Amino acid sequence: MKSLFKAIAVTALYAVSVSMVSAAETKATPKSMELKEVDAPSGTVSSANTFNRLLKKPKQKNAPPPEDGIHDPDNEGSHVLQPPLVAYEGLPTTDFGNYVDWVQSLQKGFLNPRYDRVDPTVEALVMDLDIVREVKASMPDVIFPHKPHTQWLHCSNCHPKIFIPQKGANQINMSAILLGQKCGVCHGKVSFPITTLSCKKCHSKPKPEDWKPPLSAASQKNPWR
Ligand code: HEC
Ligand code: HEC
Ligand code: HEC
Repeated sequence: MKSLFKAIAVTALYAVSVSMVSAAETKATPKSMELKEVDAPSGTVSSANTFNRLLKKPKQKNAPPPEDGIHDPDNEGSHVLQPPLVAYEGLPTTDFGNYVDWVQSLQKGFLNPRYDRVDPTVEALVMDLDIVREVKASMPDVIFPHKPHTQWLHCSNCHPKIFIPQKGANQINMSAILLGQKCGVCHGKVSFPITTLSCKKCHSKPKPEDWKPPLSAASQKNPWR
C-alpha cells in the first residue's frame, strides 16, 4: 500500500513538472516551428513505395509546389517554381508516376536536355544495347534497354557502383528494387515507379511458347509428384 502511494505521489509530481516544462516550451516556440498536421501526399514513406496500396494516394495529380506536401509552403521560393501541370503541357502521357512519358518526350524532340551542365555543345554518349534478364517466375522477362537510359544518363551513374558492367553479373530481384536498390535507386524516385500499371514496362519480353516454370530441387526429388 505504501509503495502505491509513493507511486501516485511520484506520478503527480511528474505531471506537474511536465506541464511546467510544456508551458515554458510553448512560450518559447515561434509560430512557424509549431507542429502542424499536414496531409502527406502518399503516406509517410517516400513515394518509392506507392506500390504499397495501404499508403494514401495523392489527392491531386502533379499539384503545384506549395501544395504538393514536399515543398515548404512558407518558403517564398516554393511559389516561384513553375507548377508541373504548366511545365508538362503537351508532353506524351502515361498512366503512372508523374503521368509523363519522358522517353517519348525526348525521342519525339519535345525536350532537349543538356548533357553537360556548363557546356551546351556536349552530346550524349548513347549506347544501344539491350540486356535481357530471364525471370525464373512466370512474369515476362526483363529487357534493360541501354539506349533510353544513356540518352539521359552518363555510364558512371550506374557503372560500376550500382551494376557491374557484365551481363548476368548482378543479382537483381523485386524485393531489392522495391527497397530502393538496383533499378529502384532511380525507379520510384526520379524515373517511373513500380506500380501494377508499370510492370510491363520492364517485364516486356514474353516467355517462350514452351516455357515451363522451373521446379525446385525439392519438387524434383519428390517421389509423389
Ligand atoms: C541506368 C543504368 C545504366 C547505365 C546508365 C549504363 N548501364 Fe551498362 N548495364 C546496366 C545494366 C543493368 C547491365 C546488365 C548487368 C547484368 O545483367 O547483370 C549493364 C551491362 C553493361 C555491359 C555488359 C554487357 C554484356 O553483354 O556483358 C556493358 C559493357 C555496359 N553495361 C556498358 C555501359 C556503357 C558504356 C554505358 C554508357 C554509355 C552504360 N553501360 C550505361 C546499366 C546501365
Ligand atoms: C541511374 C538511374 C536509373 C537506374 C539505376 C535504372 N533506370 Fe531505368 N530509367 C531511368 C530514367 C531516367 C528513365 C527515363 C525516364 C522514365 O522513363 O521515367 C528510365 C527508363 C526506363 C525504361 C523505359 C524505357 C521506355 O522505352 O519507356 C525501362 C524499361 C527501364 N528504365 C528499365 C530499367 C531496369 C530494368 C533497370 C534495372 C536493371 C533500370 N531501369 C535502372 C533511370 C534509371
Ligand atoms: C524498373 C523495372 C521493373 C519494374 C517496373 C518491375 N520489375 Fe519485376 N523485375 C525487374 C528485374 C530487373 C527483375 C530481376 C530479373 C532477374 O532475375 O534478373 C525482376 C523480377 C521480378 C520477379 C521474379 C522474382 C524476383 O523478385 O526476382 C517477379 C515475380 C516480378 N519481377 C514481378 C513484378 C511485378 C508484379 C511488377 C509490377 C508491380 C514488376 N515486377 C515491376 C524489374 C522490374
